Amino acid sequence: MGEATITRNDDLGEGWFLLEAHAPALAPRVRAGQFVQVRVSDGDDPLIRRPFSVSDVLPQPGVTAESVRILYQVVGPGTRRMQRFAVGEPIDLLGPLGKPLPRPEIPKDGLLLLVGGGIGVAPLHLYCRELAFETDPPPHRVLLGARRRSLLVGWEAFQELGVDTAVSTDDGSAGHSGNVVDLARSHLDPVREGAAAGIGCGPHGMNLALRDLAVEREIPFWISLENYMPCGFGACFGCVIPTPDGTRYRRVCVEGPAFPVLELPAQF
Ligand SMILES: Cc1cc2nc3c(=O)[nH]c(=O)nc-3n(C[C@H](O)[C@H](O)[C@H](O)COP(=O)(O)OP(=O)(O)OC[C@H]3O[C@@H](n4cnc5c(N)ncnc54)[C@H](O)[C@@H]3O)c2cc1C
Ligand code: FES
Repeated sequence: MGEATITRNDDLGEGWFLLEAHAPALAPRVRAGQFVQVRVSDGDDPLIRRPFSVSDVLPQPGVTAESVRILYQVVGPGTRRMQRFAVGEPIDLLGPLGKPLPRPEIPKDGLLLLVGGGIGVAPLHLYCRELAFETDPPPHRVLLGARRRSLLVGWEAFQELGVDTAVSTDDGSAGHSGNVVDLARSHLDPVREGAAAGIGCGPHGMNLALRDLAVEREIPFWISLENYMPCGFGACFGCVIPTPDGTRYRRVCVEGPAFPVLELPAQF
């Protein structure tokens, strides 16, 4: 766990905040796709920690990292408390938890699609930062979807990284007019069979539609789930999903949060 101190907690508008904490014991150990459990209150309201993906580590991923970033949306009591966190205050972060996102093998003429909807952009940003420091990263493209342009939080960060990025909005105010799964479909069309893979992080409906697309096209695809996670480290079974054959349960917090689509049940 270790000491951590808040260094920024900026209001990005539309209920989104970017929290940064100096956390030298935690930051070097974080890999993209992992999350932290944030203690949001000193008392018992709310008592249970809240899980958040690490959206970045600074100055760069790996052993030199000293700070972590969390991109969060205010949706309830826990995140309402977080928006009042002040610079200079200590913060209690438990992690890193969960497994890192996978690194599928992609041929030079292939494509790794990274599909984010809403708050799902957070782990994809750290993933792209890690790839940016690799000597031979796989060909990859980020697709971001939101209801309207102002909700495309984090878009600029991908552009600053120089990542090939395309966006969609439901109301057509930016990029492709429609949903991000249809955008993903159109980006997969030109890729030869067997040369594509993908990772998706987003709201439930997007995840279900992405799963269907991946199964239909027989593309190796991982979906990151955001189930409720009371403990985050495998002790409570509050986050489980059944296996596709229904014979047992898997804990999303320790075996995920990302799973290959073929390991997901019909409803998840
Ligand atoms: C592995 C993981 C990574 C996450 N990463 C991020 C992140 O990077 N940024 C971010 O903003 N949020 C992230 N979340 C979701 C975040 O944990 C919840 O939004 C937060 O716990 C809400 O707490 P609250 O007390 O403010 O609201 P609550 O009162 O707990 O919930 C308010 C509303 O949000 C819904 N909600 C709460 N938790 C979830 C959830 N896990 N999935 C879907 N709906 C939920 C509830 O149904 C309710 O309608 C992540 C969740 C998981 C499991
Ligand atoms: S959150 Fe407790 S077991 Fe997964």
